[in-house]
Amino acid sequence: MNLKDLYINFFIEHGHKQIPSAPVVPENDPSVLFNTAGMQPLIPYLMGQPHPYGTRLCDYQKCVRTNDLDSVGDTTHHTFFEMLGNWSLGDYFKQESISWSYEFLTETLKIPKDRLAVTVFAGNDLIPFDQESYDKWIQLGIPKERIAKTVEDNFWIAGESGPCGPDTEIFYFRSEEEIPTTFDPEDARWVEIWNNVFMQYYKSPEGEVSELPHKNVDTGMGVERTTAILEGVLDNYLSSIWKDVIDLICEISNLPYEGEYQKSMRIIADHMRTAVFISADRAGIKPSNTDQGYILRRLIRRAIRHAKKLSIDINSNWEERIATLIMSKYESYYPEIQENHQVVLDVLRTEKEKFNRTLEKGLREFEKLVKNGTNIDGVTAFHLYDTYGFPIELTVELASERGLTVDEKGFEEKFKEHQELSRTASAGKFKGGLAGDGEIETRYHTATHLLNAALKLVVGPDVHQKGSNITSERMRFDFSCDHKLSEEEKAKTEEIVNRWIAEGLPVTVVEMKKEEAVASGAECMFLEKYPDVVTVYQIGEVSRELCGGPHVKNTQELGHFKITKEEASSAGVRRIKAVLE
Ligand code: SER
Repeated sequence: MNLKDLYINFFIEHGHKQIPSAPVVPENDPSVLFNTAGMQPLIPYLMGQPHPYGTRLCDYQKCVRTNDLDSVGDTTHHTFFEMLGNWSLGDYFKQESISWSYEFLTETLKIPKDRLAVTVFAGNDLIPFDQESYDKWIQLGIPKERIAKTVEDNFWIAGESGPCGPDTEIFYFRSEEEIPTTFDPEDARWVEIWNNVFMQYYKSPEGEVSELPHKNVDTGMGVERTTAILEGVLDNYLSSIWKDVIDLICEISNLPYEGEYQKSMRIIADHMRTAVFISADRAGIKPSNTDQGYILRRLIRRAIRHAKKLSIDINSNWEERIATLIMSKYESYYPEIQENHQVVLDVLRTEKEKFNRTLEKGLREFEKLVKNGTNIDGVTAFHLYDTYGFPIELTVELASERGLTVDEKGFEEKFKEHQELSRTASAGKFKGGLAGDGEIETRYHTATHLLNAALKLVVGPDVHQKGSNITSERMRFDFSCDHKLSEEEKAKTEEIVNRWIAEGLPVTVVEMKKEEAVASGAECMFLEKYPDVVTVYQIGEVSRELCGGPHVKNTQELGHFKITKEEASSAGVRRIKAVLE
């Protein structure tokens, strides 16, 4: 059995319910491009909302982190990873959490006890030393020399504000050398494998710390790293997660996984896997020049460029073979991969063909530009992007291979100017982290409810929301409908929404029992996802929906509503893209 199965079985045996991995693209959370940690989709529940599955949860969650994209190519960094997690929502706390982690590591995974060490929170002005965790580890038999007390690394928060708390981290001694008696968290031979966060605080955006309604536990363990450790390999790409993918790249390129080829092979393996997961996600992301689509584009293009470095024939079906192998390894865990098999292959092929058209010319242009050893300024980097589709990191990589630099800041400026990238899509958003909904997103959120209600009048009462995604530039709304909307239907829908906006309808919110809300005819997408007590947003007399908000106070705030696109999303589901002007 592999790590994921062992983990889930263990926590189910200990009274947890397995929850499905949330999409890699957060639903209705415009503040982040991707889920970067297992706890992210659980934030409302850590904040006190009851979870429909109860108080003990476990899962494996798809995560994408692109902040250290440049480090990919070494033995340990990845842009996609799976995070194992178990949670207590006001149920058990430190005692059980620590005992179970220890039991799972030493009994289920049979990790020798003397290879383990831990850190605990040392205490600061606001929060005291975590004596309870310290005592628990001692009780379980961890010698005091193997317990380090730190402050910086033992407080966990996603981004700047949100649920947070002190944590205890578990380390494994990953080296053939003699294990030192005293644990030094700075010694790189000790690698962190599991993080148990005792989430009992909330930090507001103003920096104030308050107690959460419950004491929660949030733990996270990376599948890639732990698998490599269990299999005794120092290079993650030699573990069972990657080995066959690397072998296939060797076969396709007819080159060994050695020396200078290693980096390119790792980048191809990593980026292709991330591209597979992003394009298989139900959010329907396609390569583009903004937001998630831009990340997808960059990953595919960088993989292509490294395939080229390995002299792989780009026009062959190399990408299809690699993606197919990757999908076969994950499809039993993620139904969306099975469902979207062909979508993934189409995305990769189309993007490859597109990039391939300009890549050669771009590379020649690049050679000309650097012939005299000139560093690349922002305008030139932007020219390479705009004319030849070179993502910035490709230019940086090409330049650094020749010992040259690129003015990345200058590039960003040009890029922003050109894209007129709005506030949320700007640099901050690419970093991940949790920010509040912006005003523009809030307006789109309310417009989504109006659109849903208008479609019911124009198309029929069977229209239901199937998905929604909001950026600061547009809203996207998927709904059940068996036909392409006619021009007349589209015009009518716009007209109704704009009339409601002009009428200045008040938006009000009430809390009620879920059953009552449903009985009152409130619209709701996934009933099972909601707790027993729900918030219902009502807009005048025209719309009533279960929703977490936020919304504007009056529809007048929305401006003019316009449908920009209507297309098929999947069988029986249509998609509308619309803007507020
Ligand atoms: N949130 C913590 C982490 O990401 C534990 O799940 O490490």
